[in-house]
Amino acid sequence: MGHSAHARRAAAPRLHGFGLAWRNTAIPVLPPSGRADQGADANRFLANGENRQELRNLWPAFTFDLLGWKAPPAVHGAQHKRQRQILSGCLGLGALQRVVGRADSMTQKHVEVWWRNGERISVVKIVRNYSFHVAFSLLLGTEGEKTLSRMEGLFRAWARGLSGLPVNLPGTSFRKAMKARDQLRQHIDSVIRQRQQGAAGDSHDSEELLSQLILARDEHGCALSVEELRDVTLFIVFAAYETAATTLTFALKFIEDNPSCHHRLLQEHKAIASQKRAGERMSWADITSMRYTWAVLQETLRLRPPALGGVKETLKDIQYDGYTIPKGWKILFTMAATHQNDEYFRNSSDFDPSRFEIGKLQKERLSPFSFVAFGIGPHICKGIDFARMSMSLYIHHLILGKFRWTSLEPNEKISWCLPMLTLSKGYPILISACNTSLCL
Ligand code: HEM
Repeated sequence: MGHSAHARRAAAPRLHGFGLAWRNTAIPVLPPSGRADQGADANRFLANGENRQELRNLWPAFTFDLLGWKAPPAVHGAQHKRQRQILSGCLGLGALQRVVGRADSMTQKHVEVWWRNGERISVVKIVRNYSFHVAFSLLLGTEGEKTLSRMEGLFRAWARGLSGLPVNLPGTSFRKAMKARDQLRQHIDSVIRQRQQGAAGDSHDSEELLSQLILARDEHGCALSVEELRDVTLFIVFAAYETAATTLTFALKFIEDNPSCHHRLLQEHKAIASQKRAGERMSWADITSMRYTWAVLQETLRLRPPALGGVKETLKDIQYDGYTIPKGWKILFTMAATHQNDEYFRNSSDFDPSRFEIGKLQKERLSPFSFVAFGIGPHICKGIDFARMSMSLYIHHLILGKFRWTSLEPNEKISWCLPMLTLSKGYPILISACNTSLCL
């Protein structure tokens, strides 16, 4: 394929294999003769292209006014690689092993407070509350209910700015979000200062993930600057909050609708609990032994990926399958294109956690780059283990609590709460004690 302007114009719209490719305009151009889908090969191509720095991850610029220009998605190349190395010190297994016991007790307390026989609750509301508290508390060590509630309020005002119009005028959600951002930053800055000065220096501090982030060094022995620490910390809470809450919401819906899945979860969690002494907290080994639970969560993420997809921008003319994609073009990849495609997942619309069970996985081998709920390329999610820990603990305590839950809106629709999916009425449920054979 030639590189003349004419050839580019003629060739680029005939791209196939991608969701959408468009110029630097707000309006996506659907290739007229292309398929509006993508496959695992196209996902691999995008990931490799980004590794070779021919493409880069693209978020709308205004989001970084709120997230901070040093947040991981805003940085690229060597600076980004360095941040990822340092993030391993805070979100890697070593750090998580230190906090899993605390996460376990927080989760147990949450379930005791919210899940009571006969109560009517909104699942969306309480799992959001849970996800925020776990992320904020484990990261910053904030424990008081009052401070956490205030932070959650600020955080929600801040997050609303990310999904509205970026108009910085009095009264707009964007202006309110900027104000909330400043207050959140003040809080984070003061905790960073305290930790750096070792003001509250007891052994408990070193268990906080923020302390691990402060102590972590890149390969040259350099730490994150204060500005980086602040933007990275705020971004981690953002990354952990709505994603895990959305996944838990839909996982609970799938469990409600599939009694056999509920039953298998109960068997798994009873077996794990039977190995523990009274009062003994969960360990990382316990989390990894919750294999069926992880399969349920991954199957939920396959069918209801919170992030839906992503956009990459070409940094130079690149070739794909005999076509040229010109420099500066944007490429949208959607997770549903492989997740809900029978070519990669047989009977792809069925909820079937067994696809992700280790034995079966080893036999059938999932195609690489077909399950992409955690993203692709150098910006792939850095919090997969954290997400697995918090979501598995939630299911553990819920299932062992021997509750059943019944939707009060059985025909509730899936809707957008930008940028994520949700259930339109907040998934209201009635909780009841489970005394059927399901829970014995
Ligand atoms: C079910 C839960 C989660 C899902 C589905 C998810 C999904 C994703 C996706 C799709 C990306 C890539 C975004 C992009 O392409 O720019 C991402 C990035 C990221 N996620 Fe997650 N995430 C989850 C939970 C978490 C948690 C719990 C944390 C941290 C505690 C976390 C930390 C991050 C970070 C730091 C990045 C940025 C990586 C970078 O830009 O280098 N995520 N996540």
